[in-house]
Amino acid sequence: MDPLQNKRIIVGITGSIAAYKAGELVRELKRGGAEVKVVMTEAAQEFVSPLTFQVLSGNPVYTNLFGPEGRWDPEHISLAQWGELVLVAPATADIISKLSLGLAGDLLTALTLASQATIIVCPAMNSGMWENPILQSNSKRLMELGFHFVGPGYGELASGKIGKGRFAQIEEIIGKIKEVLYPKRNLLGKKVVVTAGRTEEDLDPVRVLTNRSSGRMGYSLAQVANWRGGEVTLISGPSILPPPFGVNLQRVRTTQEMREKVKDTFREGDILVMAAAVADFKPQSLHQKKLSRGELSLKLEPTPDILKEMGEIKGDKILVGFALETGNSLDRAKRKLEEKNLDLIVLNDPTQEGAGFEVESNVVTLIWRDGRTEPLPKLPKLEVAERIWDRIAEILK
Ligand code: CTP
Repeated sequence: MDPLQNKRIIVGITGSIAAYKAGELVRELKRGGAEVKVVMTEAAQEFVSPLTFQVLSGNPVYTNLFGPEGRWDPEHISLAQWGELVLVAPATADIISKLSLGLAGDLLTALTLASQATIIVCPAMNSGMWENPILQSNSKRLMELGFHFVGPGYGELASGKIGKGRFAQIEEIIGKIKEVLYPKRNLLGKKVVVTAGRTEEDLDPVRVLTNRSSGRMGYSLAQVANWRGGEVTLISGPSILPPPFGVNLQRVRTTQEMREKVKDTFREGDILVMAAAVADFKPQSLHQKKLSRGELSLKLEPTPDILKEMGEIKGDKILVGFALETGNSLDRAKRKLEEKNLDLIVLNDPTQEGAGFEVESNVVTLIWRDGRTEPLPKLPKLEVAERIWDRIAEILK
């Protein structure tokens, strides 16, 4: 499930030119299923109208510490109790310094001071202001007190100059929020390697042997491992999917390239999940020139079995493989688990209804070393990834 689902998030907007970008941020939060209430400072309203955020958030926008007449409960307290997360984005030099001193002269500072929730600050300002030692020291104080910071980034600023002070990318902010909100942090301190997608084997200068794997299952596994606190390297064959946030993405193309990368990273790693659909065969010889229509027979040879090689050196590390079987053969999957010395194997049949390469869902059966099997219902790939990490967490215990 998306970590944003049903979360109550307060977005505090302050007077920076990046205030207009907060509109996109609110949209993304809503898209993920969060409920959003926006608080704007007076300066923020000089840049964008509260109406914009009222429409985008689907809630009234809060601007005044003393609220409308006739309300008995102080707004800053009820909002502080409502929010599970306070996001100050964009955050000016002014708000950062006020927060670091515990000032509470307006609604946003007062509610942030009263809140017990996690607070994320996304600075956006001129680089001179950001680099000023006063602001650096105030930001450092907030970080020491447990405030999370995202950005600022380096690049072109509103003044036209290049420097540090740019509002962070929306994906980066959303990624941080998901990481902070996610309840199961059971991979903290673990180095996780996930492979995904297909590999390609060259036949001639223009043609390859490959399969239809999209990488979705592996990318979901990497994303969930990152939410759970793992330090994740995703080794991916060609894929059009966007890199999951917070994950070290290493792109490869051939089986040999994947093998080298897996060997290097698993040496230092704790857990390897091989979700990649590695090409099983490659042409016996690479043709230097494009093959012509006449030459129709191909001689193939097997590629190295990466997972099996890792099984030989695994020691007490955790190794999880996939078994891609048309016909859902439990016995074949069990044999692969044994032959490759795995802790868990995930059996899937891409020809089954609700499973397959291009679809968002999957139907899998989990098989343990001791022979236990657990068929899972048809689930979104992210949810399958959650279940797999739940089971790996059990093995880790
Ligand atoms: N695998 C691998 N290296 C290969 C082939 C497969 O590391 N050259 C890994 C896959 O990533 C997967 C597991 O081994 O985790 C099983 O892959 P699969 O294609 O189902 O089985 P194979 O061992 O290749 O056997 P077969 O194709 O004969 O079914």
